[in-house]
Amino acid sequence: MATRSLFFFKVLLLFLALSDSFSATSNGQGVGINYGQIANNLPSPARVAVLLRSLNITRVKLYDADPNVLSSFSNSQVDFMIGLGNEFLQNMSADPTKAQSWIQQRLQPHIAKTRITSIVVGNEIFKTNDRVLISSLLPAMKAVYSALTNLGLEKQVTVTSAHSLDMLQTSYPPSSGSFRQEFIQFLQPLLDFHSQIKSPFLINAYPFFAYMDSPKEIPLEYVLFQPNQGMVDPNTNLHYDNMLFAQVDALYAAIKTLGHTDVEVRISETGWPSKGDENEIGATPENAALYNGNLLRLVQQRKGTPGKKSVPIDVYVFALFNENLKPGPTSERNYGLFYPDGKPVYNVGLQGYLPDIIYSSSASSIKNLNLWRALMGLAVAGLIGLDMGVKMRIPLVIGL
Ligand SMILES: *[C@@H]1O[C@H](CO)[C@@H](O)[C@H](O)[C@H]1NC(C)=O
Ligand SMILES: *[C@@H]1O[C@H](CO)[C@@H](O)[C@H](O)[C@H]1NC(C)=O
Repeated sequence: MATRSLFFFKVLLLFLALSDSFSATSNGQGVGINYGQIANNLPSPARVAVLLRSLNITRVKLYDADPNVLSSFSNSQVDFMIGLGNEFLQNMSADPTKAQSWIQQRLQPHIAKTRITSIVVGNEIFKTNDRVLISSLLPAMKAVYSALTNLGLEKQVTVTSAHSLDMLQTSYPPSSGSFRQEFIQFLQPLLDFHSQIKSPFLINAYPFFAYMDSPKEIPLEYVLFQPNQGMVDPNTNLHYDNMLFAQVDALYAAIKTLGHTDVEVRISETGWPSKGDENEIGATPENAALYNGNLLRLVQQRKGTPGKKSVPIDVYVFALFNENLKPGPTSERNYGLFYPDGKPVYNVGLQGYLPDIIYSSSASSIKNLNLWRALMGLAVAGLIGLDMGVKMRIPLVIGL
């Protein structure tokens, strides 16, 4: 009996926590999140599905097309951007049937049940400075697009790529934004293709890097979306009070120099590390909480940039979890909102829970997930107890 009251008490807590986080995102399409998996200690995708559901996060970006993740999210409300890795581009560019088989093997088995809305072909290709790779990007995107068209999926699944902001030659003031000269021959036809197929241009933007390089010149408040006097673009008289918006408008300006005002910019990655090496100035949990917390508020308010006020910023935060196997400086392993055990790294007003489910049945994880959802629904409604031959440990509610 004692166990059961405790169960109901915890379910009640859980319910309250959920109502709270639901209301926090009830208007607008909400923030997306990057689900990176370069780690050996992450929870199973089925558990992550419950965590994301508790957070009311319905937009996820993957760096691959991991079948475990895609099948764990079948029949969920989550929209996926899946990744097609840089290693495939050269072959697909030379032989479009390779794109066809990738789509057949990676996308087709899941598309009926899992909401895959976009394929991100290559990540930060221009940053590699590899001419062969760079010149393979557009042909590979076209091959993927044709493969989708052959299946009648080209409207349902958009084709795009994600770029590093390094591709800009000039980003200040925003109205002077321009691309690096050596990339223009590739970017012109790339943007023409985006315009033709009406797909967004994705950018990975990290004001953290700019701040880390020049902490004396750049006010911390300006990069963290805190109150500050900001700056006025002398050409447009537009006022900027945060660097991310200035970066996005600089990209819009660069795109315009190539004749396009019809391609939307979206932010495929942005974030702030909670920990870094000694030279990674600003990488603290306090700053990460301010950056991501303030960013979430701007997304919820459906804020547009000064240059595109009517277009709400579209953001995928980097990242869901700290990833312990990422190479590079300490910051690389500390961008997560959550530790692998589901505890928040800092408070950004996102309450979630990661279930720790132990079942006596041998059902597959996906059935367990649906059973879990069904049980939670009934338990919340006060209709059932726990005596159903199911051994279940109720997770602690992660309060903030
Ligand atoms: C969850 O968020 C979506 C938008 O992301 C919103 O439409 C929906 O109403 C939210 N759910 C609840 C229960 O508030
Ligand atoms: C690309 O094609 C070559 C030759 O067919 C093959 O050996 C290689 O594994 C392919 N690369 C990928 C990533 O599929």
